[in-house]
Amino acid sequence: MTTVLNTIAETRDALGARRANGRIALVPTMGALHEGHLSLVERARELADTVVVSIFVNKLQFGPGEDFDRYPRTFDDDLRKLEDAGVDYCFAPSTEEMYPRGLKQTRVIGGPAAGILEGAHRLSHFDGVLTVVAKLFNIVRPDVAVFGEKDAQQLFLVQRMVADLDMEVEVVGAPIVREADGLARSSRNRYLSEQERALALTLSRALQAAASSGDLGIREMLAQAQGVFSLEPHVSLDYFSIVEPTAFTLVGDDYRGPGLALVAARVGSTRLIDNLPVVVGGHERA
Ligand code: PAJ
Repeated sequence: MTTVLNTIAETRDALGARRANGRIALVPTMGALHEGHLSLVERARELADTVVVSIFVNKLQFGPGEDFDRYPRTFDDDLRKLEDAGVDYCFAPSTEEMYPRGLKQTRVIGGPAAGILEGAHRLSHFDGVLTVVAKLFNIVRPDVAVFGEKDAQQLFLVQRMVADLDMEVEVVGAPIVREADGLARSSRNRYLSEQERALALTLSRALQAAASSGDLGIREMLAQAQGVFSLEPHVSLDYFSIVEPTAFTLVGDDYRGPGLALVAARVGSTRLIDNLPVVVGGHERA
């Protein structure tokens, strides 16, 4: 049985009692749950005795003109999935419960990595993410929290926040879950028409093209990815970039070593992101 908790007070009560029974894991989500979210739940079950999944469409992380209003809200379906996955608690607060004094409240501001890529295209998005994650950590007080590598920049920034602000929680990453044809699972995939669903594969194809030309260096990897996008004029590229994964900084043309390629693009009105680890200048230097 999954117990639904709607208020901060009842969550503190319920989990306060559970703390004596062992470790607590938190999986923060915005709902519209799919296999990607459920893989995080599975990982959480391996890591702790009590698993809490939060479902909260966090207005603070959506910019004006973004999809807050139309973001899919499928609570009954989600709860069934959490029951099947053996989740102990679902924390599903209202916006009023989380932001009783409105959105102009104290915020957590990310470091330099919050200003590039997603942060450059979605101004103050990560401040909204970090603020709600900090609140969720303070409400649930988990020993461990599981985040997907699908949102690699988010995962990096949450790990940095925990280190920088000395939060007592272990943040664990879990691999991207994809459809059979390579499309990364996402709550936003349900916006896609059949035709758009096919075009959405451009993102993973471009990542693969960059990864497989790793030996030729950064410039050629980016050119290969651009080549894939130039064949699909109906897919509008926001960025395709490669970062050094431990510092999350953009690499220069002469960079060699492990990298993470990240992409964001619009298919129709749907904005999708994806990423893939790459090795730059790999084999010759190994
Ligand atoms: P949401 O987009 O619902 O994602 C919740 C978690 O599921 C994130 O850690 C995300 O990386 C992970 N996830 C999504 N798709 C995945 C996939 N295909 N494979 C593996 N993991 C996947 O990310 C958010 O919500 C919000 O920003 C949140 C952290 C909840 C703060 O509001």
